[in-house]
Amino acid sequence: MDLIKAAAGAAELLRGLSPIIVLTGAGISVESGIPPFRGPGGLWERYDPDEYGHIDSFRKDPGRSWEMLIEIIGSSLSAEPNEAHLTLSRLEKRGTIGPIITQNIDGLHQAAGARDVIELHGNARDIICTGCGGKEELRDLRSFSPRCGCGGWKRPDIVFFGEGLPEMVLTRALMNAEMAGAIIVVGTSGIVYPAAMIPEIVKRNGGKVVEINPYSTMYTGSITDVFLESPATEGLKLLEGYLPG
Ligand code: APR
Repeated sequence: MDLIKAAAGAAELLRGLSPIIVLTGAGISVESGIPPFRGPGGLWERYDPDEYGHIDSFRKDPGRSWEMLIEIIGSSLSAEPNEAHLTLSRLEKRGTIGPIITQNIDGLHQAAGARDVIELHGNARDIICTGCGGKEELRDLRSFSPRCGCGGWKRPDIVFFGEGLPEMVLTRALMNAEMAGAIIVVGTSGIVYPAAMIPEIVKRNGGKVVEINPYSTMYTGSITDVFLESPATEGLKLLEGYLPG
């Protein structure tokens, strides 16, 4: 379908539905220069997720996992929010959407001004020492060492494969999904659970699903009602234009 028609159709579908929640994934930050995990140029092309991203691997050889973590955290710290993050913040301010549930650890929704952000997979800024429990907020990698003065290894406050999501965070996300009249799903492959379950819950309860992604995903042929086949910035901007002010 033509993108403009799809955006107009999505706005029509969303009219009168409330609340409209949002689920974002790595794709929304691609236009900020942060690589996704899967697909062309994805991180998992270069790093085996089991070897670098699993908690057991981190425990066995933290130095190895930190090779990848430094890259992920570095790209997050140096990135700026793009038009897609900014559009969502404007829609939040207008009262059109909320909350934004994200799988991203880059903090770009908050940097764009969004207030109600649920970070399902933690964040790259908060660092904790696995030895002494010391905490620090990371702003710059230049003077950073993954080893603590106590001799222990530090870790970012993110969810590794093999770890559960923080219970309160997951509960909040699931409650919002249960209550939602609709969801806008932006830039996620929909592969990693339990995050991937969120649009499925909305749909199961009779809610509508609008999806924005340049490529089709697990949702596209199944639960998506309107698909905006476009990068996040373009799709969200178009949709914003059609939504009532
Ligand atoms: N705009 C919107 N979407 C895009 C763009 C773009 N400019 N570029 C790529 N995409 C889409 C891809 O088509 C893909 O569907 O973003 C999605 C990225 O998918 P993944 O890399 O799988 O990211 P995500 O769904 O967030 O991954 C979930 O997997 O490895 C874990 O913990 C990691 O949180 C992450 C989770």
